[in-house]
Amino acid sequence: MKKILITGGAGFIGSHVVRRFVNRYPQYSIINADALTYAGNLENLIDIEDKPNYFFEKADIKDKDAISTIFDKHGVTDIIHLAAESHVDRSILSPLDFVYTNVIGTVTMLEVAKEKWKNDYNGHLFYHISTDEVFGALGSEGFFTEDTRYDPHSPYSASKASSDHFVRAYFDTYGIQTIVSNCSNNYGPNHFPEKLIPLMINNLINNKPLPVYGDGKYTRDWLYVKDHAIAIDLLFHQGKAGETYNIGGFNEWKNIDLVMLLCKQMDKKLGHKPGTSKQLITYVKDRPGHDRRYAIDASKINSRFGWKPSVTFEEGLSETIDWFLTNKTWLSHVTSGEYTSYYDHQYENR
Ligand code: NAD
Ligand code: DAU
Repeated sequence: MKKILITGGAGFIGSHVVRRFVNRYPQYSIINADALTYAGNLENLIDIEDKPNYFFEKADIKDKDAISTIFDKHGVTDIIHLAAESHVDRSILSPLDFVYTNVIGTVTMLEVAKEKWKNDYNGHLFYHISTDEVFGALGSEGFFTEDTRYDPHSPYSASKASSDHFVRAYFDTYGIQTIVSNCSNNYGPNHFPEKLIPLMINNLINNKPLPVYGDGKYTRDWLYVKDHAIAIDLLFHQGKAGETYNIGGFNEWKNIDLVMLLCKQMDKKLGHKPGTSKQLITYVKDRPGHDRRYAIDASKINSRFGWKPSVTFEEGLSETIDWFLTNKTWLSHVTSGEYTSYYDHQYENR
């Protein structure tokens, strides 16, 4: 019987993965280990917290003893590793936090797995969740494939690239069964409002300026978070150890076009006159080292397993806006305290 340790399960993507596994696999034990940093929030999991196959452990992935104790207590058989510092702008402000959590934390997880599973590496999986940002930036053409050379530009992407290399090194060197998947930008319910889409929704709700970096023509490939969770479920069960899989939305948007679409949908949902929200758009100073374009070629996971996004962007975005409009208490909790000082520091005088 699988006893899966999911790290970072109180965060945005992690909470969707935890929910899916807890509900879909009542025969598995799902152990969520999360340090509950500013980005971790147990309110994301209220609907499943009393399920008999769900366990929460507050733990830092850099703390080898704590992770080791969790392994012993629950008899962990597999890992889905999502815990990370995940925001590029914060990585520019404090890169070392990203090295500690994303690099040292991941190697600590690998070390514990190496020790605890040493009698039979074949019976266990270490599944590492990574990002398309490790591949760097594209020009106006082309896509990232699984064979694209790593070329990270931000402290965040450099730390994720490093962690990916360590995961592969543990497969090659020790025979630990690993899978890495590199996904494009996620969006959806529970998204922390420091990232583009939830930040814009939150500012629209509060009638605040919509800060678009640089010329607004930077391009991202957006995927609904629940579709990422479906892909993770598929790769966890059917992916081949030692391999890498790209996951993407087949859905590229220039930031400014995306913000315009959001404004249009928000005008409708808030009952505003068409064109009201877009007046809040404000171009601000660019992000240093800003990658121009990301676009994933997800044909490997599509051709091997038939995975593709299940919702259109317009549907996903509409569901996302509805979620934020209905969950104002969640929003007010995560935007109080630390968020306010981060926001002021990041956007003041920009
Ligand atoms: P998030 O910031 O919303 O959540 C991260 C979670 O990790 C939080 O619950 C936080 O408390 C926890 N955490 C942070 N440091 C920790 C530590 N030292 N020990 C234990 N827990 C810790 O991030 P997210 O957007 O859900 O991303 C999850 C993973 O997916 C990350 O590895 C990220 O690199 C990757 N990813 C994210 C995206 C995206 O668009 N958000 C896309 C591709 C890949
Ligand atoms: O590509 C996957 C990555 O996507 C993940 O690995 C990261 O964890 C996740 O944070 C995300 O990184 P990005 O930097 O692409 O996401 P962010 O939402 O911060 O920014 C998206 C784009 O919007 C980017 O071009 C910067 C721009 N932007 C962002 C913010 C917060 C703005 O123009 N204004 C803003 O205020």
